[in-house]
Amino acid sequence: MIISSATDFREAARRKLPPFLFHYLDGGAGAEQTLRANVDDLQNVKLRQRVLRGSESLDLSTHWFGRDYALPIALAPVGLAGMYARRGEVQAVQACGKANIPFIQSTVSVCSLAEVAARAGKPIWFQLYVLKDRGFMRDVMRRASELGATTLFFTVDMPVPGNRYRDLHSGMSGPAGPRRRMLQAMMHPRWAWDVGLFGRPHDLGNISAYRGHATGLEDYIGWLGSNFDPGISWADLQWIRDEWKGELILKGILDVEDARDALDFGADGIVVSNHGGRQLDGAPSSASVLPAIAEAVKGRMRIFADGGVRTGTDVFRMLALGADGVLLGRAFIYALATHGQAGVERLLAIMEKDLRTNMVLTGVKSVAEIGPHLLADRA
Ligand code: FNR
Repeated sequence: MIISSATDFREAARRKLPPFLFHYLDGGAGAEQTLRANVDDLQNVKLRQRVLRGSESLDLSTHWFGRDYALPIALAPVGLAGMYARRGEVQAVQACGKANIPFIQSTVSVCSLAEVAARAGKPIWFQLYVLKDRGFMRDVMRRASELGATTLFFTVDMPVPGNRYRDLHSGMSGPAGPRRRMLQAMMHPRWAWDVGLFGRPHDLGNISAYRGHATGLEDYIGWLGSNFDPGISWADLQWIRDEWKGELILKGILDVEDARDALDFGADGIVVSNHGGRQLDGAPSSASVLPAIAEAVKGRMRIFADGGVRTGTDVFRMLALGADGVLLGRAFIYALATHGQAGVERLLAIMEKDLRTNMVLTGVKSVAEIGPHLLADRA
């Protein structure tokens, strides 16, 4: 199979993965309207084609929080990445190291923070959920900081897990889940072999770090599910600002008023995101709200955006809509699941090429020059 885009990686992942994992990755909340809108609205963003404004050299580099990166892209925190490929988070962070872009490690990783930090080659970015157990959160933040994490992505759009119907059908959740997952795993031996389920104990490095809460994956997912905090408010967040000495980014902002509140709160940045359409079905797409949010807070805090980014052109579009940086979610996991680290490297190379091509075709020389003046319907 010839791989030329994230869509090809997705098709390969659909063939390789047991259905419970593919649909957990691919699906969203409710009727998946927000999930579809993320992709469709972004693809509908029209760009201005400009001619005869060429340059021999292009600058794709980006400067975030005192460090230089090669592309305006980071890998989003994706839970259970280590279930898609053997030591999945490690393979992904190594691909980031080669491409010189940031990797954001999820709270719900399979590999431990220590394992990932040791292979990162540069300070890692870490994502944390709002959990009722504040002692646990404090503990994780301390550990992340000791391991050199500089930047905390605090995910605020998951006070409760979204209702994901596909997970019930596939066996990812629901009472019959464990049996169905076991059966599916047996029918997908290539995947099971690749992630290391056969022949050797599966090392749940991160999950075993939650000792006292969970003894294995099932237990851990149950503990986490019952630990989301639906009562969280801005006032509750202050202790995190006090506790975390590095940069603090609020992930899951979709409303202009919330973006202003994040600025007043003292966040160093936000991620304009609806969690990839996995939380509030009916929420607007990231692409549709990004311009108004950028108008309200751009330049005073970093604006990252995600949701529906599948190509380098989509990265360009998010930048034109007002983002300073773009996170890849599903796209990189499709690549990781099918081709491991090499797949993620290939995906990033494809996106870089797209981005370069678009810069030439729109007449810009650097990422910093990409902005709303390149949107066809705003010109
Ligand atoms: C996620 N996302 C997510 N976000 C987060 O803050 N912590 C997490 O553990 C996870 N886990 C997770 C698992 C899976 C399978 C998916 C698909 C997504 C959300 C993720 O960081 C990002 O916001 C979206 O994936 C962006 O949308 P796209 O690029 O997938 O369309």
